[in-house]
Amino acid sequence: MWVRNAWYVVAWTHELEAGRILARTVIDQPLALYRTADGAIVAFEDRCCHRFAPLTMGRLEGDNLRCMYHGLKFAPDGRCIEIPGQPRIPSSAFVRRYPTAVVGSWVWIWMGEPAGADLATIPPSVALEDPAYRLKGGQIDYAAHYLLIDDNLLDLSHLSFVHENTLGLDMPQWADGRPHVVPLGRGLRMQRWLRDHRPRGFMKKLGERLDVWNSYDFLFPGVFLQRTGFHRLGTADASGGKEASEAPLFYRLDEQAVTPVSARASRYFYAAGARAGDIDPDKLDRLFAVTEKAFREDKAIIEAQQKLIDLEPERQMLPTSLDAGPTQFRRLVENLLTAA
Ligand code: FES
Ligand SMILES: [Fe+2]
Repeated sequence: MWVRNAWYVVAWTHELEAGRILARTVIDQPLALYRTADGAIVAFEDRCCHRFAPLTMGRLEGDNLRCMYHGLKFAPDGRCIEIPGQPRIPSSAFVRRYPTAVVGSWVWIWMGEPAGADLATIPPSVALEDPAYRLKGGQIDYAAHYLLIDDNLLDLSHLSFVHENTLGLDMPQWADGRPHVVPLGRGLRMQRWLRDHRPRGFMKKLGERLDVWNSYDFLFPGVFLQRTGFHRLGTADASGGKEASEAPLFYRLDEQAVTPVSARASRYFYAAGARAGDIDPDKLDRLFAVTEKAFREDKAIIEAQQKLIDLEPERQMLPTSLDAGPTQFRRLVENLLTAA
């Protein structure tokens, strides 16, 4: 049911504060996360090996975590180092520890066997404080299976409808054209030009009419790394449908990660912004507010869709040419599940 051999985004780095235990659930596995004094991140299964009390109800004692049911104490490597009233500690006294890593501003967790955790396979997201960009980040909880959110991100035609007043910007081009799809190792690359866009708001200063280059990599389990370049009108044709060699007038960055929590819960981490020279803090606030409004639009329709699916799970959906991305990605997920 779950792909264990994968990296999942479990938190923003700033959520792991010194002295605090963070409770999270990833693929039905409750977790207890904390930082040691040297800043390293510890991720334990949130279950004491003694009588299964949650470790998130325990307390930190320096770099160690004490279960506050009967007082067993665990070192950052998961080993039990103290059993009150019992001098001998059996070697079976330990809690499961998961590998973690920080890339960009996300804390990643490897849910498979630790030996399989390869840091080189973590997608390269940009940190919120990267000086080349101005970015803001957030997160939202969904009452829906993660693949419904993935479907949404793999078919941006919904921008013309779900987001007609926010991210869609009156652009039927999202639904009328189809992206070029390139398979990647654990995902897909989607690229396209959106011609003759009429920008709104502060983007109007770039020109009345623009061509927009949209490119994103979408990687398991739901990592969306998108670059959108706003160019002079005519750039799309001059580039022969390929990415333009000239720098865009405005360069927008969106990075998102969908993390499955359970069969009907997901957490969505997101960052949005632009190249540092293209946007000031006030405009970033406006861009981010519109983006978050759009995410609430997605949440409303996807959670409603999930309810209808659950009402009659056997009903078949109608495939259309819009579904190429979601269909290919679901096949990839099936392959990962079979390989597990
Ligand atoms: S359940 Fe943790 S010490 Fe007993
Ligand atoms: Fe959306």
